[in-house]
Amino acid sequence: MIELVEKLHENNNLTDKELKQLIETDDKNTAQILRQRADETRRKYYGNKVFLRGLIEISSFCRNDCLYCGIRCSNKSAERFRLTENKIISCAESGYKRGFRTFVLQGGEDDYYTDERMCRIITQIKEKCPDCAVTLSLGERTPESYRLMKRAGADRYLLRHEAADTELYQKLHPPKMILDKRINCLYNLKVEGYQVGAGFMVGAPFQTVDNIIADLRFLQNLNPHMVGIGPFVPHHATPFSGCAGGTVGLTVRLLGIIRLMLSEVLLPATTALGTISPDGRILGLQTGCNVVMPNISPDDSRDKYELYNNKSTEELSNIIADIERAGYEVSMERGDCIR
Ligand code: 5AD
Repeated sequence: MIELVEKLHENNNLTDKELKQLIETDDKNTAQILRQRADETRRKYYGNKVFLRGLIEISSFCRNDCLYCGIRCSNKSAERFRLTENKIISCAESGYKRGFRTFVLQGGEDDYYTDERMCRIITQIKEKCPDCAVTLSLGERTPESYRLMKRAGADRYLLRHEAADTELYQKLHPPKMILDKRINCLYNLKVEGYQVGAGFMVGAPFQTVDNIIADLRFLQNLNPHMVGIGPFVPHHATPFSGCAGGTVGLTVRLLGIIRLMLSEVLLPATTALGTISPDGRILGLQTGCNVVMPNISPDDSRDKYELYNNKSTEELSNIIADIERAGYEVSMERGDCIR
């Protein structure tokens, strides 16, 4: 098994059969070597820096109905919120004063945020916070919309592909959501010049090891600048409320594998990973992760952006303590992908 890690480290690749073996093992020595090699790789390209991104949750209204997600439109018990243009801008400004140089504007697919509105917001953030990067995470939009927002100053876009296997994708989403459309969005974003992030949930209902291999192959083909993966965490008011969640072990193993496959990628230790275990984030950081996205949303809306149960709203000081405890240095720089 250890040879498989070495082979992946050397070639940035393995056969499907080898990948399957590595994904399925919970051998401690293998985990340790994977952690070492993933850490070496991240240090080679990014040193010991962990980039902080200020996450602003702009809306919990969503027209979509993803079966796993707490803010799906059929969840009538969800309390909804949406930040005004001014609130979003002032939130970024106060983050800027605290040193943040990347802002991630994330929200459900909410028609309120027209291209015109988004462009105004982006333009003003860029005006008031020069030298910052603006990352958007607003779901599927038209090529035209992506183009306009890029022109207004947006730099990066996060859109998890969620599942590269059509059958699994359809089990996780309502019929009107189509995998091909989502993948087209990712390629459109690349064409428009965004730094792009894709990704998936680990341990989602119905997900098999073969499905995960398909996700890894998809990521190799797309070759994104960022990859976001985190454990599936059930949400009480969704059809998947009774399903098992993803594990720390498998999530961390996949983070290590992704670091070795896509050496220069920006890889966040996600909130979901920190939520399911007190040492999840530290393990992630020690296994190739080099980004953390602290929530800097206004206090009064935070509890309402509930994608999954117990979603933590953690203090920045705890996050910084984790990063330092894991052996790394907090960086507030823009932290662009080096390629
Ligand atoms: N558990 C974990 N992650 C989730 N997401 C949505 N719902 C859940 C859940 N129940 C993830 C999706 C989405 C991202 C914003 O949050 O992958 O792309």
